[in-house]
Amino acid sequence: MRRLKLSILFIFFVIGSLSAKEGMWIPLLLEKYNLAEMQEMGFELTAQDIYDVNNGSMKDAIVVFGGGCTGEMISPEGLLITNHHCGYRQIQSHSSVENDYLTNGFWAMSREEELPNPGLTVRFLEYMEDVTDEVLEGTEVLETEEREKKIRENTSRLERSASERGKYMTQVKPLFYGNQYYLYVYKVYRDVRLVGAPPSAIGKFGGDTDNWIWPRHTGDFSLFRVYAGENNEPADYSPDNVPFQPKKFFPISLDGVQEGDFTMVFGNPGSTMQYIPSHEVDIIQNQRDPDRIAIRDKKLEILNQAMESDPKVRIQYSAKHASISNAWKKWQGEILGLERLDAINKKLAFEAAFKEWAEANRTWESEYQQVFENFDALYFLYKDFIKASDYYSEIVLRGVEIFQVASRVNNIIKNIESKQDKRLESELKGTLDFLPRFFKDYHHPVDEQLFETLIPLLSNDLKSEFLPEYLNDVLAKNDRDKLVRKVYQKSVLTDEQKLKQILEEGDEKKLLKLRKDPVLELYNRLNFHYEANIKPVVDALNSRINQKMKIYMAGIILMKEGEPLYPDANLTLRVAYGKVEGYEPRDGVKYKHYTTLAGIMEKDNPEIYDYNVPERLKELFHSKDYGRYADSEGYLPVCFAASNHTTGGNSGSPIVNAKGHLIGVNFDRCWEGTMSDIMYDPEQSRNIAIDIRYALFLIDKFAGAGYLLDEMELVREKVEVADE
Ligand code: ARG
Ligand code: GLU
Repeated sequence: MRRLKLSILFIFFVIGSLSAKEGMWIPLLLEKYNLAEMQEMGFELTAQDIYDVNNGSMKDAIVVFGGGCTGEMISPEGLLITNHHCGYRQIQSHSSVENDYLTNGFWAMSREEELPNPGLTVRFLEYMEDVTDEVLEGTEVLETEEREKKIRENTSRLERSASERGKYMTQVKPLFYGNQYYLYVYKVYRDVRLVGAPPSAIGKFGGDTDNWIWPRHTGDFSLFRVYAGENNEPADYSPDNVPFQPKKFFPISLDGVQEGDFTMVFGNPGSTMQYIPSHEVDIIQNQRDPDRIAIRDKKLEILNQAMESDPKVRIQYSAKHASISNAWKKWQGEILGLERLDAINKKLAFEAAFKEWAEANRTWESEYQQVFENFDALYFLYKDFIKASDYYSEIVLRGVEIFQVASRVNNIIKNIESKQDKRLESELKGTLDFLPRFFKDYHHPVDEQLFETLIPLLSNDLKSEFLPEYLNDVLAKNDRDKLVRKVYQKSVLTDEQKLKQILEEGDEKKLLKLRKDPVLELYNRLNFHYEANIKPVVDALNSRINQKMKIYMAGIILMKEGEPLYPDANLTLRVAYGKVEGYEPRDGVKYKHYTTLAGIMEKDNPEIYDYNVPERLKELFHSKDYGRYADSEGYLPVCFAASNHTTGGNSGSPIVNAKGHLIGVNFDRCWEGTMSDIMYDPEQSRNIAIDIRYALFLIDKFAGAGYLLDEMELVREKVEVADE
């Protein structure tokens, strides 16, 4: 009997380890938790090859790019690859009507032509360290608030001392809801130049239509170069700076990918919620996602219509459209996935097993019963408050556009009222800078429609205690039509010239008169109500929930003792490993693991903006001039799918093969699997990467910037395909 059990276990282990692998693992702990399994799946290197503080290892080739993407070194001379959508802001900032790099692409044909990007930084992780004991030192005897204070003190002391007088950027971050703390020490480089970007018709091919969708054909990459001052150290931009020499860069594989190949993604996933209780999954799946989708449906309907009928509006609203539709689409996939997984019931079953475990250990009553009673009560309150918070956030904070102007004017008025002259001056200046940027991409009729459509949603959908009396009054007195006429159309805030004049004059009396502006007044009442009655409660509930989560999490760690657990993502370096594989999204449908240039040609349609294939790419397709970048059957690979557990922030992450050679750059997930932020599904959760051979082909054959390949290390291990 025992033998049988063992062999069943063994079979289970083997089968289990052959399939996709959930988890975003801490590089420092791979040896302990993951290496054996990784090697079993095909990985041929050691844990030190991935993370080593004494010798150059893969971690030294990876950066946090800008605010929240990943990028990696691909040459000894500081050349960096990330996504097109990660470099989008920089590419856009260099673009003008004469030099429209977004439309035409940009390729530096020499180092002199590389473009500096003030404000853009990349940071390399020097080391990470478990500092739990130091952070919790002296906190054992303290009660909640005192304890938090002590933790903050310990944290800032650690951060200060590790920074070595500002040489490093340092962060202490909680893991497992504060059951552990890690210190992260970074070196920040400040001179990062744009080297190359394909036209948007390639780098953003498929646009928002294909976003989150597999099969995918986007060439989502861009190239930058990191520069250093003396001794390879960080420096502000200077023409005298020289290319940074990384301790490690990724060799690039020309072998391509086969179904079932081992893959690893090494990058900076931003945030996940793997351990939340059933209560919160329920709220996300049945309230938060549907609410936010419904509000954004309305926004997108308005934007789509206006963008379709006016090319100028299309340009003005393309970035706004992209950001509204990105999460909107992801949430739809998330609901679908949570439903398919029956996630709430899975969580309930886990909670029942947890209770059983705790009862068997006689810890249920003493430690956890109260936690779950607290969850019931806290989430009961949270549900209504987070609904209000979602509505305010979608409608007041980033819905009606003119409220952004209102918010700034409001600050000016507050500073006049409180006689803060210095601050007033800088607010006035800041607002005058802001106005032209804002109005450049503002189309009055679009925003008027947003106003007309979104404001009534607040009162239709929220309980009255979440609304200021004022709004009820205004809405009661006016029908929709009148609301627009009496509020939106009467405002001077929408009149750039008039507003500019008032601000430039700086006459305090005139400025104070703006308090009576109908848009400003409405914004003010809404914002005040939110700041006074909604946000503080949501913050307090979140903090209470997190305190309880810490206890629950500690229990889960005990319950799972011996099993590896990974903490939620927190925008620090993590390793995800899996395989190159397609999936079956629904009955009767099976997706391959890769796409090719032929698929781009199938989608080609000059009438549809997102599918307008550049002439040059068509020529290359017709002449089949793919060189060494073609696969063994003569097709040009474009993207591939794999089962690595990734999330936002993993954009631009290197995806490497068993030998640690770069095979692709991660840029998205398949939307049927996006519930992986809450619950991963080995059957459906897939990340999407651009095949590195497509990027090389574009640099070389499409852009004629093949000189950039000279500094890369291109490797080919399989010999069956003769090299040219
Ligand atoms: N879905 C990807 C991410 O979450 C890509 C977003 C940019 N692309 C776009 N078409 N909006 O960031
Ligand atoms: N596009 C996402 C990013 O910018 C990655 C996709 C995901 O959420 O996995 O990080």
